[in-house]
Amino acid sequence: MANPESTETNEAQLAVHWKEEEYYYPGTQFIAQANMTDADILDRFGEKNFPECFKEYADMLTWYKYWEKTLDTSHPPFWKWFVGGEINACYNCVDRHLPKYRNKTAIHFVPELESDPIQHVTYQELYVRVNEFAALLRDYCGLKRGDRVTLHLPMVAELPITMLACARLGVIHSQVFGGFSGNACGERIEDSQSRFLITMDSYYRSGKLLDHKKQANIAYETAHKLGKPPEKVLIWQRHPGKYSAETPLVEGRDFIINDLLPKYRGHRIEPERMKAEDILFLMYTSGTTGRPKAAQHSTGGYLAYVTGTSKYIQDIHPEDVYWCMADIGWITGHSYIVYGPLALAASSVVYEGIPTYPDAGRPWRIAEELGVNIFHTSPTAIRGLRKAGEDVPRKYNHHFKHMTTVGEPIEPAVWRWYYNEVGKKEAVIVDTWWQTENGGFLCSTVPALAPMKPGSCGPGVPGIYPVVYDDDGKELTAGAGKAGNICIRNPWPGSMQTIWGDHDRFVKVYYERYCKNKDSKDWRDWPYMAGDGAVLAADGYVRILGRIDDVINVAGHRLGTKELESAALTVEEVAEAAVVPIPDEVKGRVPDLYVSLKPGYKPTKELQEKIAKALSDAISPIARPKHVWIVPDMPKTRSGKIMRRVLGAISSHGATGDVTTLANPEVVETIRVMVQDEGK
Ligand code: WT7
Repeated sequence: MANPESTETNEAQLAVHWKEEEYYYPGTQFIAQANMTDADILDRFGEKNFPECFKEYADMLTWYKYWEKTLDTSHPPFWKWFVGGEINACYNCVDRHLPKYRNKTAIHFVPELESDPIQHVTYQELYVRVNEFAALLRDYCGLKRGDRVTLHLPMVAELPITMLACARLGVIHSQVFGGFSGNACGERIEDSQSRFLITMDSYYRSGKLLDHKKQANIAYETAHKLGKPPEKVLIWQRHPGKYSAETPLVEGRDFIINDLLPKYRGHRIEPERMKAEDILFLMYTSGTTGRPKAAQHSTGGYLAYVTGTSKYIQDIHPEDVYWCMADIGWITGHSYIVYGPLALAASSVVYEGIPTYPDAGRPWRIAEELGVNIFHTSPTAIRGLRKAGEDVPRKYNHHFKHMTTVGEPIEPAVWRWYYNEVGKKEAVIVDTWWQTENGGFLCSTVPALAPMKPGSCGPGVPGIYPVVYDDDGKELTAGAGKAGNICIRNPWPGSMQTIWGDHDRFVKVYYERYCKNKDSKDWRDWPYMAGDGAVLAADGYVRILGRIDDVINVAGHRLGTKELESAALTVEEVAEAAVVPIPDEVKGRVPDLYVSLKPGYKPTKELQEKIAKALSDAISPIARPKHVWIVPDMPKTRSGKIMRRVLGAISSHGATGDVTTLANPEVVETIRVMVQDEGK
């Protein structure tokens, strides 16, 4: 996997090999109430019952028309699920719950300021608000089935309301993470050819009210320059009835949703009967080129998969209060804050702010107040909360039955802190491994059935058959202790359908490498390559090492090194740029940036700052590099390729290996002294 000939570096190479950990077993109390306690499930979802096993998930939904074919493989690897079926996602998440759960909370919206009251949106209220907003989208904007809109919303109740209103009409939503820059948002408007931008004037972050409207202007300008400005910008008010951004409205272009809505009071919109294979949403993610790519997710297959996994892996019952602390702007939030939990009629918490505002006790106070019993977060958040010490969670009387970790590998010590201190040794933990492209979980334990192993996500979830291949396509046996590339052997209903507008890239990135026969229509010849390094233990549990490509997972946010490098290259003085991942105590990995300057420019502190700012402006503050090293020259191969592998080794104080074959070996020592002396 770590090819010594390669010039590149990647996350998986940084992984430390942890020793085998002991099992932890689920408690009897958890098992007694769990949704899935039938040990036959893995067999029921085993290969001999594939693909019909997924009927079990699709049957959790309400269909207008039942499907005729569970899986169509006639056009590999463009698999089609539940062909012939008709369904509406909004109907399944809202309308169908009304008879039983009308006055039960669907969404608990928790504002960041603790002095602001929590809002409890019932299923009835959600139904009303979604319908009225859908009426506005249809009748005021003229939006119709198949159109795209870009959302750039913060973590507020209006975000799921907007998504569900779109889903009701069959309008494809593309929510861009609210913390992303206006620039990144504008590029995504253009790529998705969105007709409208829906945003909010402001929101709270670390106690401050941020002017978010400013980003909408930048997004509009960027999309305009790229040739696809949105027709209008629709703006929710963070404080309804009061515009609270400093950036003024642009007349004729910007419209306040809260002003328009009263006209649609009482309107009800019949949900569109969507085909199972119609697109529900786009979700952008980073890849190995600078261009953003959108995972295109289906309606029927996606919804069935997130509902099934929410029920069996998240153990969500309608009476649970479920809190996933991720942002809805990422796939985790789409699948496991909005669509999965709401399809199961759960009460789902939407928290606006950061976990440590105003202090590290906030999550436990929220959990106490709302009676949260299922908690879902990332290793980065856990590491951050752990820094404040165990006295903090010990002060609170929250009780979780179930906890999730997702997004990055979790160190066993951090896992144990989560188990002992946050979960008070009462909660089961699932470590769920998956990706934006996958729609839902790929590897995890089924919580009442299998023991937990700190640092390992577990085997494939029901209906997912993982395999680890070496570079030559040879299957690595379980327990061999060797790292390889993790693939999934079979299709599953939650998978993206393609990359929006780029079918070739879809095939190339995920299927080309290990395809056994390009002419075959048998799914067994088309393993899905995830792009992660992994080790398969003797018990069939998978340990994910990290990305094997040019992607860095910063605090659970996926950033492409090429995107970061191209942002650095927009700075006039910069001639060359190279980004490498380095370990970080809290964020898991962070980018370290190396640049060389054009002739005539001198390295200065101001220039370093200017370059760092270019990255956070172009992408997001998350993209800010740990350091900007201005080097006299990049280490290069004789053919002129930048040796990122050598820079990576220097950044993380590892061995640079033999550099004598480089075109300029002497520069390695200069850089090493510069970087490693600074750290002292
Ligand atoms: C990448 C996908 C899945 C939603 C959040 C991230 C890493 C994800 C785990 C885990 C170790 C993990 C992988 C993967 N990753 N979950 N439980 N253990 N690594 O979605 O932004 O698409 O990132 O996150 O490297 O490829 P994403």
